[in-house]
Amino acid sequence: MFVFFALFATFASIDCASVPAIASSTSVPVAILSNTVNLTAEGNYNWSFELADGTKAEQVASVKTVDEEKVEDIKGSYSYVDPDGNTHSVQYIANEHGFFPKGDDIHPEIASHLVELEANPPRLSSKISV
Ligand SMILES: *[C@@H]1O[C@H](CO)[C@@H](O)[C@H](O)[C@H]1NC(C)=O
Ligand SMILES: *[C@@H]1O[C@H](CO)[C@@H](O)[C@H](O)[C@H]1NC(C)=O
Repeated sequence: MFVFFALFATFASIDCASVPAIASSTSVPVAILSNTVNLTAEGNYNWSFELADGTKAEQVASVKTVDEEKVEDIKGSYSYVDPDGNTHSVQYIANEHGFFPKGDDIHPEIASHLVELEANPPRLSSKISV
């Protein structure tokens, strides 16, 4: 799980210098303070967890129909404390238009491009005409 978030942080962050330190911390066991998962029959779900090292993540997803296809509308966030004691946080949404992270670690040029894309998503069709 932590490796997943380290990779996630790499994707969402330009400050890659902190990633190796995070990855190396996976050898130290960390207590799980809370861990919840909730599913509904309709396919909606949410989950959250918090670790003793300050790492937290949560996600809420609901299923909606777009162009007669079921897609997930996801909102989430995660944060972790780096070896210097600084907390890094990312909030994100993900939907049929893509993954849109926000947070102080995201390079300003990428962040402003993501805000533009989120406001004016390209019209993508999952259907391929033959
Ligand atoms: C998570 O799902 C449960 C069960 O459907 C619901 O009661 C709860 O309000 C949900 N929490 C959030 C943050 O959406
Ligand atoms: C999942 O449901 C439990 C019990 O209702 C609740 O305490 C927890 O906060 C829920 N998790 C999320 C992420 O909403």
